[in-house]
Amino acid sequence: MAIARFLLLLFFAALLVGCQCVTFTIKNSCTSTIWPATLNSGGSPQLTSTGFELAAGNSTKLLAPPKWSGRMWARTHCSTDASGRFSCLSGDCGTGQVSCSGSGGAPPVSLAEFTLDGADDKDFYDISLVDGFNLPVAVAPDTRSCNSTVCPTDVNQRCPEELKQKTDGGEVIGCKSPCLAFGGDRYCCTGVYNNPKVCKPTDYSTVFKKACPQAYSYPYDDATSTFTCVGSNYLITFCPSP
Ligand SMILES: *[C@@H]1O[C@H](CO)[C@@H](O)[C@H](O)[C@H]1NC(C)=O
Ligand SMILES: *[C@@H]1O[C@H](CO)[C@@H](O)[C@H](O)[C@H]1NC(C)=O
Repeated sequence: MAIARFLLLLFFAALLVGCQCVTFTIKNSCTSTIWPATLNSGGSPQLTSTGFELAAGNSTKLLAPPKWSGRMWARTHCSTDASGRFSCLSGDCGTGQVSCSGSGGAPPVSLAEFTLDGADDKDFYDISLVDGFNLPVAVAPDTRSCNSTVCPTDVNQRCPEELKQKTDGGEVIGCKSPCLAFGGDRYCCTGVYNNPKVCKPTDYSTVFKKACPQAYSYPYDDATSTFTCVGSNYLITFCPSP
């Protein structure tokens, strides 16, 4: 029994030492508590946390295995009801719990997207408002030669009326993308618009682009929105100071 436990300990120690892990530090610079969430993609494993509470001003570190890809977002206006079910008005993942366990967040949400150690051994990262916006967010590599990407503006404050997501009390807590609000091939870059030469910015997508020039404002917004770095850790800040 003791030997088995010792071997198990040795195994985890070896894992830790051998892990070429990337550290994600997730920071809440908002004035209220948020509930960040992570979702793995492309066959990579779930991170050690898929959802957690983060008080204003606090930060949490998560380790990602090599080649991890996935997204992060923050949920707001969350509560637990009398039956113990947890839910959020913005970014809810529908599990009824703080952990999202492989479920994505309901749009509109601002997304920080990562593909670690992808093509040419580079990390790829971006901020996407393709599914809309809920909070300003920044992704900063800790390698000085690499560029940060930031969506610094509260798009909710300049959201066109027909795209606003509001609480029952009328507070704007999200700004829908035109694809989410209206659907259709032109806004969603689907059908005959499923081509970067045909799917162009619209009056609506330019609202997002003006507010956050470094973020994806529509599906084919690649030229100004994709960032790369090699061998870095990343700080993801919600509500970075502008
Ligand atoms: C900040 O987060 C740590 C864990 O990441 C937690 O132990 C601590 O209680 C938090 N502080 C506040 C003020 O919530
Ligand atoms: C950072 O941005 C500048 C200006 O856009 C660019 O010239 C440079 O190549 C970027 N650095 C990296 C590591 O991508």
